[in-house]
Amino acid sequence: MKRILVTGALGQIGSELTLRLRDIYGASNVMATDIRQNSSEAAQSGPFEVVDVTDFKQMMETAKKYQADTIMHLAAILSASAEAMPVFAWNLNMGGLLNALETARELKAQFFTPSSIGAFGPTTPKDNTPQDTIMRPTTMYGVNKVAGELLADYYFNKYGVDTRGLRFSGIISYVAQPGGGTTDYAVEIYYKAVQERKYTSYIAKGTFMDMMYMPDALNAIIDLMEADSCRLIHRNSFNVTAMSFDPEGIAASIRRYIPDFKLDYDVDPSRQRIAESWPNSIDATAARQEWGFKYEYDLDKMTEDMIDKLRQKLRLEVPKL
Ligand code: SER
Repeated sequence: MKRILVTGALGQIGSELTLRLRDIYGASNVMATDIRQNSSEAAQSGPFEVVDVTDFKQMMETAKKYQADTIMHLAAILSASAEAMPVFAWNLNMGGLLNALETARELKAQFFTPSSIGAFGPTTPKDNTPQDTIMRPTTMYGVNKVAGELLADYYFNKYGVDTRGLRFSGIISYVAQPGGGTTDYAVEIYYKAVQERKYTSYIAKGTFMDMMYMPDALNAIIDLMEADSCRLIHRNSFNVTAMSFDPEGIAASIRRYIPDFKLDYDVDPSRQRIAESWPNSIDATAARQEWGFKYEYDLDKMTEDMIDKLRQKLRLEVPKL
C-alpha cells in the first residue's frame, strides 16, 4: 500500500492530484502538505499539515511521521513569477527540490516532481521537440527545471532513488487556477469567455505552446508512477503533451460553443519573451513507448468540458443563440 506525501497540495495540480490519489489509494494514505491551509477539499478530505519545503527538518519529520513511501513534490513557483523574483525562485524551486530528494533518499521513497516545457530554450528545435535535445533555457524557471531534472537523475544514479518526472506544458483546469505562469492565459480565456464573452490576451497571436487538460495530466502522473521501473530508459523527465495552439486556435475552439466570443490583444512583453523561448510543440514518443502515455482530451473536447463545467461552477445560464 502506498503512503504518499504531496507537497504544494493546494496548488493548481496538487489540489486535484491529492483528491485523485485519495480515491485510488485511500484518503488516510495521502498526506497533503502546503505552505498554507485553507478550506478546500484537498486540505479537508484527509491528513493535512502545513510544511514549508525550504525547511528540511519540517519536511523530513512530516514524511517520517506519516511513514511516506512516495513523495510527490509539486511545490514551486511558475515561470513569470520566477522571472520577477529570480533569487526567491532559485531558493524555493531548487532548495525545496533538494530537501524533497533528500527526504526520499532517507526514507527510500519513490519520487515524482514535474519538469516543464520551460526546460527548453531558444536554441532547442522548436517543432516536434525531441525527448533528448538541446536544453539551454533563458529563464530562471527553465534553469531550475533543467537543474532539477539533472538532480533527480543524479539521485537515481547515485543513490538508487526511484525518481520520475514529466515535462508538463500548460495545464488547463476549471478547479484551481494557476498563478504566475506563462501559459495561464489558456485558463483565463475560458473564465472570461463564459463570464464576458471576450478576452484580452497577453500572449501574441501566432505564439504556439503545448497544453494538456488536467484529467490527462493526472492520469499521466499516476501511469508513470505505476510503470514498471525496468521499462524506463528515461526518468527525468518525459515530454508529454496533448495539443498545441496559439490564442487564435483556442478562440476558434471557444467559438464553436460561444459563437460571438471576441479576442483581442494587449501583449505582455515579459511573458511573451518567455513563451517565445519555448517550443511550439513537443514530441511525446518516448513517454508512449516507455510507459504507455496517452491522452483523452484534444482541444475541442477540452473546450466543451471546460465551458460546461465553468458554467456550472459560476452558475451561469447557457446563453440563448
Ligand atoms: N505552465 C508553466 C508556466 O507557464 C509551464 O510549465 O510557467
